Amino acid sequence: MTLLSVENVTRRYRLPRQALLTPPAVLTAVDQASFTLERGETLGIVGESGSGKSTLARMVMAFERPDEGRVLFEGKDLATLAPADLRALRPHFQLVFQDPYSSLNPRRTVGWSIAEPLRATGQADKARVAQALEQVGLRPEDADKYPHEFSGGQRQRVAIARAIVTRPSLLVADEAVSALDMSVQAQILNLLMDLQDELGLAILFISHDLSVVGSICDSILVMEHGKTVEYGAAQQIMRAPEQGYTRSLLTAAGLI
Ligand SMILES: Nc1ncnc2c1ncn2[C@@H]1O[C@H](COP(=O)(O)OP(=O)(O)OP(=O)(O)O)[C@@H](O)[C@H]1O
Ligand SMILES: [Mg+2]
Repeated sequence: MTLLSVENVTRRYRLPRQALLTPPAVLTAVDQASFTLERGETLGIVGESGSGKSTLARMVMAFERPDEGRVLFEGKDLATLAPADLRALRPHFQLVFQDPYSSLNPRRTVGWSIAEPLRATGQADKARVAQALEQVGLRPEDADKYPHEFSGGQRQRVAIARAIVTRPSLLVADEAVSALDMSVQAQILNLLMDLQDELGLAILFISHDLSVVGSICDSILVMEHGKTVEYGAAQQIMRAPEQGYTRSLLTAAGLI
């Protein structure tokens, strides 16, 4: 069964009223997006700032509901699940943000933060935390340190450890390497690819950088102002983009 299937998903935001008697304007942040992601595969979502990438990610994570369309995880429509069923499903899809501090509590040890998704399911256990740290190239002893004691790249490894500790089948990485130096970026991308092989993870990889997306993804969805510009095999899109917008992203990334 397809792991993740997004069907004609639309999300609108009401903007503040410009004047007293005018109706509020509505922004369509995501407009009829559709894609599928199979187990162990990587789909890149690429587009300029404001194109709707994070909005799409929030709907995949069931943090927001689509106004139209459906998000199916293992065939289950996230919007119609009972709260208890959604809670039970949550450990299977995890998110990594650009800023690791958004998932790590600065006043707690990283071991505490990594164990957090496990506590939610009543399975917190030191051995699982130690294993997750080793899987991301850190040491079990690092569990006792605080987030500020790590470098930016190491902190992102901690955030990834927190995301994989529940052994998810889907990882949503929203600009997960964008804030890092080029060499550290490459290390984190390699780590994600290794984890993918090791754990059979599917990755939804969101980035404004088409060169990064093209290097690691099986397929690519290009977004502009909420609309899907292009969707297909990564090799095809990188080699022969059909749309001018995609070509402009390739040019911006210095790829053509
Ligand atoms: N809660 C909200 N209320 C109103 N408008 C919103 C809200 N969230 C996002 N938007 C708008 O929706 C559009 C898409 O935003 P989104 O954050 O999904 O873009 P993005 O592609 O992730 O951009 P970036 O690359 O900068 O992260 C933007 O115009 C944004 O201003
Ligand atoms: Mg975003």
